[in-house]
Amino acid sequence: MSETKKKVALRSAEWFGSQDKNGFMYRSWMKNQGIPDHEFHGKPIIGICNTWSELTPCNAHFRQLAEHVKRGILEAGGFPVEFPVFSNGESNLRPTAMLTRNLASMDVEESIRGNPMDAVVLLVGCDKTTPALLMGAASVDIPTIVVSGGPMLNGKLNGKDIGSGTAVWQLHEQMKAGSITLHQFMSAESGMSRSAGTCNTMGTASTMASMAEALGTSLPHNAAIPAVDSRRYVLAHMSGIRIVEMVHEDLRLSKVLTREAFENAIKVNAAIGGSTNAVIHLKAIAGRIGVPLELEDWTRVGRGTPTIVDLLPSGRFLMEEFYYAGGLPAVIRRLGEGDLLPHKNALTVNGKSLWDNCVEAPIYNDEVVRTLDNPLLADGGICVLRGNLAPRGAVLKPSAASPHLMQHRGKAVVFEDFEHYKSRILDPDLDVDADSVLVMKNCGPKGYPGMAEVGNMGLPPKLLAQGITDMVRISDARMSGTAYGTVVLHVAPEAMAGGPLGIVKDGDMIALDCHNGSLNIDISDGEIAERLAARELGSAPGPKSGYQQLYIEHVLQADEGCDFDFLVGNRGSAVPRHSH
Ligand code: FES
Ligand code: MG
Repeated sequence: MSETKKKVALRSAEWFGSQDKNGFMYRSWMKNQGIPDHEFHGKPIIGICNTWSELTPCNAHFRQLAEHVKRGILEAGGFPVEFPVFSNGESNLRPTAMLTRNLASMDVEESIRGNPMDAVVLLVGCDKTTPALLMGAASVDIPTIVVSGGPMLNGKLNGKDIGSGTAVWQLHEQMKAGSITLHQFMSAESGMSRSAGTCNTMGTASTMASMAEALGTSLPHNAAIPAVDSRRYVLAHMSGIRIVEMVHEDLRLSKVLTREAFENAIKVNAAIGGSTNAVIHLKAIAGRIGVPLELEDWTRVGRGTPTIVDLLPSGRFLMEEFYYAGGLPAVIRRLGEGDLLPHKNALTVNGKSLWDNCVEAPIYNDEVVRTLDNPLLADGGICVLRGNLAPRGAVLKPSAASPHLMQHRGKAVVFEDFEHYKSRILDPDLDVDADSVLVMKNCGPKGYPGMAEVGNMGLPPKLLAQGITDMVRISDARMSGTAYGTVVLHVAPEAMAGGPLGIVKDGDMIALDCHNGSLNIDISDGEIAERLAARELGSAPGPKSGYQQLYIEHVLQADEGCDFDFLVGNRGSAVPRHSH
């Protein structure tokens, strides 16, 4: 054992290291699994935090993934202990998987802190599982490494590639416009999701896997290796080896998740055309580890960065092509060579800097990972908007928007909530044209509740039939990372929290200016104040007690990352008392 290895006292020794009643109790029950006594003395104990669930189809292959992590841990002399945590499955959970992101993060935090482990491997995949596990782990701050499950293979329909989620939005609009039949729409169902893994577009899952890599919390190539590619299992194995070394180096999460790491991640998000959901999730993770991060950082750091990854929903290709083109290290190399990587020296979990990991990354396809002088969009990044309609901010993703709508004035067509939208949008007599601005209220964190991905409201069928494919849409909701359009999201404060979004009426003029970062309603301050005073706040549908009530009472607004007020911060790994 080297000198450095001897110095680090194992946290798990507080459970298993003593020859007394406590040590007896902690060891004895564990031994019912057939674990020999020597395993408890001096080996780093590595938790494998598993979001496996058959109800989270994107993470359904994680028992196999965990086995490969275990092989690596065993090879490096560690002792693996796998444990389940709440699994947020995006496709099944109602009213939205976002409602339970914080619940999962609490499960993760308490599971790690309360149990004998010296380090943890986070197995994540589907959208909310990545932020939930990083948030929980950040509040404990032991050595941590992320292993993502990887994307699905390309979807297929009639011999052509189709992308997860994006194909649903596209084909559904085509069906509403009358250009395809219900049967043709339904025939895409099985071909779109034909292998294990997460959405194969640059949706939120791929974005967050990329963020985990850009933040330095995973080994290189975590973002893009397909779920069923054997190299995904090699990555899991190598992560198992590495996490044991991280215990000996005391390489805790807070040494990786620095302010510099978040600035790198914001830059990378712009380059990949990443999901708007990353704005909320990175803020929540930063809040847990104690790093200040503001909405304006997305403008200051991110704007002016070209989007060079040509993936759906912004561009053309899918995650398979992204991996074959060189994956995220190729993107980081391009950024660094163009002087667009703010902190090359940021430390990553393999003990090297982000730049060391990527400086020689091969780039195999300039169409998928485009060059800086031939980008998909010259000024990617997230557009942050403020104004009398969004005093605490709103966001828009320029790479998924229509350039001609990014400076736009139009009359509001208002929907009081999602149900009102769904019924009213179908009305052939609805007073709406291509210049109208669709405004939906009460879909924010408290209002939906859980801030569902309903912000990319489908267009009125009568306009779709005229060939209109995009309109300005504004709400306090989120949208799926697989979605697209000139969609203003995350308006804060939300309508249900008393935000001015709640007082917009049909016919009000709304001005959106993405170039100047403003979002305003054309009425006087006096009129706004009058309408706010006269307004009665409703309440979200569903139970008025239980977890949902806890959520509504404690959730922070979108600009603060939608964490619970009482969860923000790093509470460390110490547990002062024994259980008996
Ligand atoms: Fe799970 Fe998209 S639904 S990753
Ligand atoms: Mg999603």
